[in-house]
Amino acid sequence: MTVTIYVPRDSGALALGAGKVADAIASEIRTRGINAKLVRNGSRGLYWLEPMVEVETSQGRVAYGPVTAKDVASLFDADFLSGGKHALSLGDPEEIPYLARQTRLTFARVGITDPISLDDYKAHGGLVGLEKALTMTPTDIVRQVTDSGLRGRGGAGFPTGVKWKTVLDTPGELKYIVCNADEGDSGTFSDRMIMEGDPFILIEGMTIAAIAVGATKGYIYLRSEYPHAERALNEALAVARKAGVLGKSILGSIHAFDIEVRMGAGAYVCGEETALLDSLEGKRGQVRAKPPLPAHKGLFGRPTVINNVISLASVPIVLDKGAAYYKDFGLGRSRGTIPIQIAGNARYPGLFEAAFGLTLGEIVDKIGGGTKSGRPVRAVQVGGPLGAYFPRELFDTPFDYEAFAAKDGLIGHAGIVVFDDTVDMLKQARFAMEFCGIESCGKCTPCRVGAVRGVEVADRIAHGVEPEKQIELLEDLCNTMKFGSLCALGGFTPYPVMSALRHFPEDFRPHPVREAAE
Ligand SMILES: Cc1cc2nc3c(=O)[nH]c(=O)nc-3n(C[C@H](O)[C@H](O)[C@H](O)COP(=O)(O)O)c2cc1C
Ligand code: SF4
Repeated sequence: MTVTIYVPRDSGALALGAGKVADAIASEIRTRGINAKLVRNGSRGLYWLEPMVEVETSQGRVAYGPVTAKDVASLFDADFLSGGKHALSLGDPEEIPYLARQTRLTFARVGITDPISLDDYKAHGGLVGLEKALTMTPTDIVRQVTDSGLRGRGGAGFPTGVKWKTVLDTPGELKYIVCNADEGDSGTFSDRMIMEGDPFILIEGMTIAAIAVGATKGYIYLRSEYPHAERALNEALAVARKAGVLGKSILGSIHAFDIEVRMGAGAYVCGEETALLDSLEGKRGQVRAKPPLPAHKGLFGRPTVINNVISLASVPIVLDKGAAYYKDFGLGRSRGTIPIQIAGNARYPGLFEAAFGLTLGEIVDKIGGGTKSGRPVRAVQVGGPLGAYFPRELFDTPFDYEAFAAKDGLIGHAGIVVFDDTVDMLKQARFAMEFCGIESCGKCTPCRVGAVRGVEVADRIAHGVEPEKQIELLEDLCNTMKFGSLCALGGFTPYPVMSALRHFPEDFRPHPVREAAE
């Protein structure tokens, strides 16, 4: 019998040596003359255990990790192909508490299947959503998505069904589906994990969107830093075309649709949907004033659905299991599940998909295990570089769009970056302004000029130059940026700055005063 061994092809696992581990396993298979097959799967998202190797045994999957190339020979000696005991044994991966406690809907297949095998995808419930969509009217598909309560996972949390309805209702001979795969937020990697670990779910979600609104062409705008995702997507797209999932007749139907991958060039602002469209059109990525909305006049002036990877990858589940099933997860107006990404100084960094509603404290302390450094957690930044810093006093905030907004924060793309008590929050505030200055598209003054002035003000505070006056100036500047900027880059930079100032005022005192106080 052929034994199947899984070694992730995920970038995170590769960065930790998965490529060398796979080579070493292939070499042992050859030299020992063993009948085994090596599959390059996605990552389960338990990054402190990567590279995590799994074997399909007669008792089910057995995992080992973190494995280095040097461990490989001893794994074979310990008969790991039959689940033999080894110092790196992790047992059944599904029973590892970090994984067992999750509700995996969007990530149900990631780490389990061969990302490029359509047969594997179908064997694990893939394409059921698309097949159902092909039997429905566009209006009914859009209604299902609306009723599911799905909101955009790219950051703004806008209802996906409402966006689709606008495009459906806008007449146009040519319409587009654009997938925002720029994933520029700090500490985020869920889009990448899906594209590398289960690209067919994104292809299926985009195809359902196309049928729903009457689009014939799709683009995935992928950040340039994701070459492994690019490869996985292009391999999967070729398989999908050959199998008739994409092309002139989707699964033999009257609908035509195809998808192309386009690479970005590394600008954070090109994740903003209108700058992204400019970039896709071959121009310098600059934010467009709204209206017109992309849903009315988007790519090349045509009606366009633009959605984040996770939003689109959640759609097949909604169509397969029904709106009510999806909506049953979550709380308030935050329905379904959200793939939370725990990063920074975390003991257990990784991806944790769960229904909305866990508290921030549960995520950071119980799931993330506190800091890797072992020092106390002082702050966490939620929602990328434009997200607020949360102190421990706000750790009872439930993971929910409205609850975070009520605390002057945002969930964004659900990335959480953990900091211990050595963090200097004035430096973090300065960094937010500096980042905005570097990444600003330059179109509006509050952001273009405000960010540069913000850095200068932060520096004056650090040097003890009229600190009280400067803090007043910083608050004033933040208000101008918040209410005067054209897009959320300038408009949300005040969130990290003001939260740092509000929750950690002691860090904004001049250094000699701070040192004396400590
Ligand atoms: C500066 C800036 C950067 C952004 N970067 C991203 C990004 O990397 N990925 C993303 O999906 N949305 C990003 N967004 C949000 C998009 O503008 C837009 O809301 C999103 O693509 C809509 O898709 P959704 O409704 O599925 O979330 C960014 C917004 C701003 C203002
Ligand atoms: S806020 Fe900044 S990034 Fe956004 S449009 Fe204005 S200058 Fe460009």
